[in-house]
Amino acid sequence: MSRLSQPSAMNYNSTAPLIELHDISFSYPGSKTPALDELNFIPDQGKVGLIGPNGSGKTTLFHIIMGLLKPSDGQMLFKGKPLLKEKDFRKLRQEVGLLFQDADDQLFSPTVLEDVAFGPLNLKISPAKAREMAGQILKKLRLSDLEERVTHQLSGGEKKLVSLATILVMEPKLLLLDEPTNNLDSATRSRLIEILGSLEISCIIISHDWDFLAASTAEIYAMENGRLIRSGKSSLHNHFHVHLHGGQPHEHGG
Ligand SMILES: Nc1ncnc2c1ncn2[C@@H]1O[C@H](COP(=O)(O)OP(=O)(O)OP(=O)(O)O)[C@@H](O)[C@H]1O
Ligand SMILES: [Mg+2]
Repeated sequence: MSRLSQPSAMNYNSTAPLIELHDISFSYPGSKTPALDELNFIPDQGKVGLIGPNGSGKTTLFHIIMGLLKPSDGQMLFKGKPLLKEKDFRKLRQEVGLLFQDADDQLFSPTVLEDVAFGPLNLKISPAKAREMAGQILKKLRLSDLEERVTHQLSGGEKKLVSLATILVMEPKLLLLDEPTNNLDSATRSRLIEILGSLEISCIIISHDWDFLAASTAEIYAMENGRLIRSGKSSLHNHFHVHLHGGQPHEHGG
């Protein structure tokens, strides 16, 4: 049997990109237009941004990468190896963390400390060690005051930061952040920018907040109608003058 006919038997390649998406298509059941349409994406290492109009498929793309949705077509690779089965995605999820667009999708334990300790406990780390790891990451994010709080009673901004703690405690190599600055006040937003700046891991950050992306990423990809239409921060620019695009990134012809 040829090697190609047994892709799942291939080994991970340490020099390959962490994630590659080739010609990925996905449609939600009953929808006439695909949410992802033969999309190709090999994100750069480091921190990159992803912008695009509402409904252009950004969140869907993250859910496809995590294996929460299955593409109808195309190929996805993790460290050079095809992602085919749930067990391949379980491996990916040990190294890739997703901050959900809605923090209520992320948090489910009674208290903050239990929520942050949940991931390590799930990896069969001892309860004492898991609590210690949770305490450390909360301290690093200056959230120790929230440890014993009831998770569902936190404010939206607090939930966002605690959600980030539940992911960072797992020490991911790649962080997918879906609109992390949504509903944050300017102080919390600045704190998030500072936290992200201090992380030495790759991040893909979906945001409509151009200033935030400009401050926290080296490269920006743009999405439209389920496709990545362009990449390159230099091809998009941001300035303030009176026309339709306001402060949004845009291009001028000529
Ligand atoms: N569960 C679902 N069932 C059916 N259609 C869906 C579902 N989730 C999203 N869609 C549709 O798929 C398309 C892409 O949605 P997606 O949430 O990926 O967009 P987005 O770029 O993240 O938008 P936003 O900026 O508003 O968060 C939209 O047309 C949306 O209405
Ligand atoms: Mg979205």
